[in-house]
Amino acid sequence: MPDDLRPNDSSAFWMPFTNNRAFKSQPRLLSRAKDMHYFTPEGRPVLDATAGLWCVNAGHSRPSIIEAIQRQATEAHYLPSFQLGHPLAFELAERLTEIMPRPLDRVFFTNSGSESVDTALKIALAYHRARGEGSRTRLIGRERGYHGVGFGGISVGGIGPNRKQYGPLLPGTDHIRSTQGNAPFTKGQPAAGADLADDLERLVALHGADTIAAVIVEPVAGSTGVLVPPVGYLERLREIATKHGILLIFDEVITGFGRLGAATAAAKFGVTPDLMCLAKGLTNAAVPMGAVVAGRHVYDAIVDNAAPGIELFHGYTYSAHPLACAAAMATLDLYEDESLFERAATLAPIWEAAVHSLKGARHVKDVRNLGLVAGIELEPRPDAPGARAGEIFRAAFDAGLLIRFTGDTLAMSPPLIISEDQIAEIADKLRSLLEATP
Ligand SMILES: Cc1ncc(COP(=O)(O)O)c(C=O)c1O
Repeated sequence: MPDDLRPNDSSAFWMPFTNNRAFKSQPRLLSRAKDMHYFTPEGRPVLDATAGLWCVNAGHSRPSIIEAIQRQATEAHYLPSFQLGHPLAFELAERLTEIMPRPLDRVFFTNSGSESVDTALKIALAYHRARGEGSRTRLIGRERGYHGVGFGGISVGGIGPNRKQYGPLLPGTDHIRSTQGNAPFTKGQPAAGADLADDLERLVALHGADTIAAVIVEPVAGSTGVLVPPVGYLERLREIATKHGILLIFDEVITGFGRLGAATAAAKFGVTPDLMCLAKGLTNAAVPMGAVVAGRHVYDAIVDNAAPGIELFHGYTYSAHPLACAAAMATLDLYEDESLFERAATLAPIWEAAVHSLKGARHVKDVRNLGLVAGIELEPRPDAPGARAGEIFRAAFDAGLLIRFTGDTLAMSPPLIISEDQIAEIADKLRSLLEATP
């Protein structure tokens, strides 16, 4: 490694979601990325099977996005959005609504998925209060759900380790059951399990609908190991939420922007939530940005019923940051010009065949997939759950392949520009790595 790239002391950076002690004794560094590959400081290519953290949907370091950011930075690298506005923010909001299902046509900008989730939860509470139903304060999530790391997000989230260190969290939250059934090696959506949505009725019976503000789910749960909703599940959840006046929030931080072969999971499944959380692919991860897209009815209820003055006491210094807006506009252009959502839909069956070819490979207990997402669940080692997947992740990196792991599930979500040869390369490499791992 050249000396100018070698960190002389790695102790100051407290790394997020990382085993700091293990990492710092054996660092894995990336210094450059282009299209489908990262490059280590020594110049070794690493094929990106995860689109960064599920976010670089159009591939790495795309020139048109870089140029848009550079152009904007020379005009103004910051412009505020409280009581003032800049034209690109309005243009981007309008542009985003073009790929949203109606009635989702009001956009609140944030800077991350976690902020989008907390924003959507707050909007849901404000909506009911504005309509004179202030008793609706309960927020329902789902077991194994991941909604980022804000207090709202971890409270409705259903991943134990993300919650346990932080005390009682938000009061008045509850969780419906996870969608994970028992049909290993299902291709795409499981046929059985729509009735898991009825679990929302259980919570209505338990708490009373008049105490429940919203239910939030990832249409396809990503971070917890790729859980694909059974056929009819989201439709049923929508029905039950509507019946009881509960707002339905889709956390589309991962599923938005082509991941499932459509602009959104809402479009893919034909189920429209009241609020949608976005981030990641919105700017192709070139500049941090998130958004909540609200149904017109939600916006109108809050804005029309407000006393004169500010209608929603919420916002971020960097809401609609100009560099992020420029990156997002260029990203949306790329998605359109290169038909990347359609490309993902075309590649999905090829991806499905490749990942399911690992059925029967050593240690493989289940394969789950939809669009360009796959989870490969491994038999855990009896004495060390998660250890096998962690070892494969590290061995894959050394072999020039970046995957993710959560528990004993390997997760993949490549950039939508992936080639058929690269899909085959991923499956072949994984097969060898599984074989070589005890
Ligand atoms: C479904 C979902 N929601 C929220 C988040 C949080 O996003 P961020 O890390 O940008 O705060 C993530 C991140 O992976 C996610 O997958």
